[in-house]
Amino acid sequence: MTITVPLIQFGFGNVGRAVVERVLRTRDLFEWRYGLHLSYRALCDSRGAIIEMDGIRYGDLQRALAAKAAGESLSEFALGYLHQGLLDIVDIAASEGAIVIDVTATDETVPALLQALSLGCRLVLANKKPLTQRYETFRRLNADGRLRYEATVGAGVPVIATLTENLIASGDVIHRIEGCLSGTLGFLTTGLQAGEGFAALVRRAHELGYTEPDPRDDLGGMDVARKALILARTLGWPLELDQIAVEALFPPELGGGAAADFLTGAAALDEPYRRRVEAAAAAGKTLRYVATLSDGRARVGLEEVPLDSPVGRLQGTDNLIAFHTEVYRPTPLVLQGRGAGAQGTAAGVLADIVALARR
Ligand SMILES: NC(=O)c1ccc[n+]([C@@H]2O[C@H](COP(=O)([O-])OP(=O)(O)OC[C@H]3O[C@@H](n4cnc5c(N)ncnc54)[C@H](OP(=O)(O)O)[C@@H]3O)[C@@H](O)[C@H]2O)c1
Repeated sequence: MTITVPLIQFGFGNVGRAVVERVLRTRDLFEWRYGLHLSYRALCDSRGAIIEMDGIRYGDLQRALAAKAAGESLSEFALGYLHQGLLDIVDIAASEGAIVIDVTATDETVPALLQALSLGCRLVLANKKPLTQRYETFRRLNADGRLRYEATVGAGVPVIATLTENLIASGDVIHRIEGCLSGTLGFLTTGLQAGEGFAALVRRAHELGYTEPDPRDDLGGMDVARKALILARTLGWPLELDQIAVEALFPPELGGGAAADFLTGAAALDEPYRRRVEAAAAAGKTLRYVATLSDGRARVGLEEVPLDSPVGRLQGTDNLIAFHTEVYRPTPLVLQGRGAGAQGTAAGVLADIVALARR
C-alpha cells in the first residue's frame, strides 16, 4: 500500500530548489522502500505560488525549477499566481498530516507555521529564524513532536537527530557541547593558523562566495549564535537570543559603513590576529570559532583550543560538533562533515520529511 503525503513548501531559492529536485529524484526509491509518495500540493516564493490540491505534476515541477533557476518568480510562471501571503496558502492547501517545509530565510513565516500546526500539519524547517524568536514561539512550534529542524544546525550533518533521538532519548546526561558550526569561520580560522592575514582571508572568503554579501553578517557571530540557541532549546533550556554571549570578529568601530570599507578597514586587524595566533601556537593551541554549551549557558566566540582536540584538528569549511556526555567520556561523540551547501541542507530536510511521513 502506498501512502500519499502532501507537501507545502515556503521558499524556492537555492535550498528550496534542491529539496524539490531531491523529492523528485527519490520518489521511486521511497515508494519501493517505504510505500511513501511525497506529493507537492503547494510551492511558493516571496511573491508567487503554485497550488494543485491533487499534487503538482512531475513535468510542471521540472518546468517551475527551470523557470526559477532562470530568475523568474513563481508569480510569473504559467501555473503560478501572485499570492497574498503565506496564511492564505495554508488556508487553501493545509490538511491534517500535510508537511509544511520552511526553506525561506525570514521570520515572517511564523504565523503561517502556527496556523498550519493548528490545522494538523507537520513542520520541517531549514530556516533558523522561527526557532530563534522568543522562547514561547519555539515552545509553541515544538509543542508535540510535529516539528523537525535537522538542517538548521550543521545542514546535512545529523546534529539534532543525534542529540534528540540518541543522546537525550537514551537517558544520557549531556555535560558540554562544543561546535564549529560555520564553514566561513572555519575557513578563516584555519587560514589564520596557516599564517595568512585576516583581511586577505576575509576578502578571499568573500570572493569565493563563502560569506554573505556583507562579510560582517558572518563575522559578527549571530548566525552561529542562532544555532547555539537552537541547540540550547533542544536541550530544554529556555534561553533567549540576547542571553547568548557573542564575540564578533571585528571591533564595533568597523561595524558601520559599507561592506567595501570594512574590507579595507580589516587590514588593521591583521597584526592583532597574528599575535593571537602566535600566542596560541606557543601554548600548543590554535584558534577556532566555537559555540560552547554547558551548565545552562551558551557562548560563541574565538577560543584557544588544543591542537590535538577534535575542534583543533578541524580544517577548512567542515562543521564539527562534540558531545561530552556521561556515556561519551573521556572521548566525546563527534560528528563532522560538510556543514553548508544546498545539497547537504536539502538532504537534511528530506530526511526530516521522511521521518515525519513514516510515523
Ligand atoms: N544554503 C545553505 O548552505 C544552508 C544551510 C543550512 C540552512 N540554510 C537555511 O535555508 C534557508 C534557505 O536558504 P537559501 O540559501 O535557499 O536562501 P535563498 O536562496 O535566499 O532562498 C530563500 C527563498 O525564500 C523565499 N522567501 C523569502 N521571503 C518569503 C516569504 N515571505 N514568503 C515565501 N517565500 C519567501 C525567497 O523568495 P524569492 O525567490 O522570491 O526571493 C526564496 O525563494 C535559510 O533559512 C538558510 O539559513 C541554508
